[in-house]
Amino acid sequence: MQEQRTDRSEPPRLRLDGITVRFGGLTALDSVSLDIPAGRILGVMGPNGAGKTTLFNVICGVFPPTEGSLELDGRSFTPKPHRLTRSGVARTLQGLGLFPGLTVLQNVTAGLAAGSRRGLDLLALPGSVRRETLLAERAMEALDTLGVAGYAAALPDTLPYGIRKKVALARALVSEPRLLLLDEPAGGLSHEDIGELADIIRTVPGDGCSVVLVEHHVDLVMEVCDRIAVLDFGRLIAEGTPAEISADPAVADAYLGVEAA
Ligand SMILES: Nc1ncnc2c1ncn2[C@@H]1O[C@H](COP(=O)(O)OP(=O)(O)OP(=O)(O)O)[C@@H](O)[C@H]1O
Ligand SMILES: [Mg+2]
Repeated sequence: MQEQRTDRSEPPRLRLDGITVRFGGLTALDSVSLDIPAGRILGVMGPNGAGKTTLFNVICGVFPPTEGSLELDGRSFTPKPHRLTRSGVARTLQGLGLFPGLTVLQNVTAGLAAGSRRGLDLLALPGSVRRETLLAERAMEALDTLGVAGYAAALPDTLPYGIRKKVALARALVSEPRLLLLDEPAGGLSHEDIGELADIIRTVPGDGCSVVLVEHHVDLVMEVCDRIAVLDFGRLIAEGTPAEISADPAVADAYLGVEAA
């Protein structure tokens, strides 16, 4: 009999254990415990204000959780924004978050300069000119992978929204993260661009990279995700396969505004 390819000893890429975030009297996340498996795509859905971006902010160390803890690849993880890429974590922001005064190439190079695993080996090289050239080469590779290398010298504000979204994605991918957090990557994209985005999410992140996709675009989430978590008022109300989530009456009630039977 063929052996099943399940390694029970492998820890999740990220484990969230009882994460609570309070802003004054508002509980943005309420004791959320969730495993993000290695090498899989997890969708996070939920209505506006459910706590999705707050979850990313905790994972990125923008602020510490009020309660709870995180583990990355089985080790206790206290995220620090300035060490994030070095930890193997990269994110895109809700919206764009590109630097308007920098060219497309400079924007993507910034994703390496912060001390990523991929940029670190270059920092050890003698001679800053050589280092700059290699950083730019790697940024060009990332732009090329997303089919936007031709815009390298442009300022982001001069480009169509769909191209700018790809530049933001290239900036996150250039560090070759093992955990990639995408906050509404389909927001503002055309139907055709969303189809392309689905292919990118499935194929471009490196082998073993885990992806967390926060997205309101239900079809995209259902199509590309291995599993889906649903937040409502900061609480994790469901977690399962796309089929399980689409059949869950609590999700229909919370997310789609349909009365649960
Ligand atoms: N820095 C902050 N200070 C105070 N309240 C905040 C802060 N960040 C988020 N909140 C509040 O926490 C709740 C969750 O917000 P969050 O941005 O995580 O929601 P979301 O699920 O990402 O929503 P959306 O789909 O609209 O992006 C909201 O009520 C929001 O107003
Ligand atoms: Mg959000």
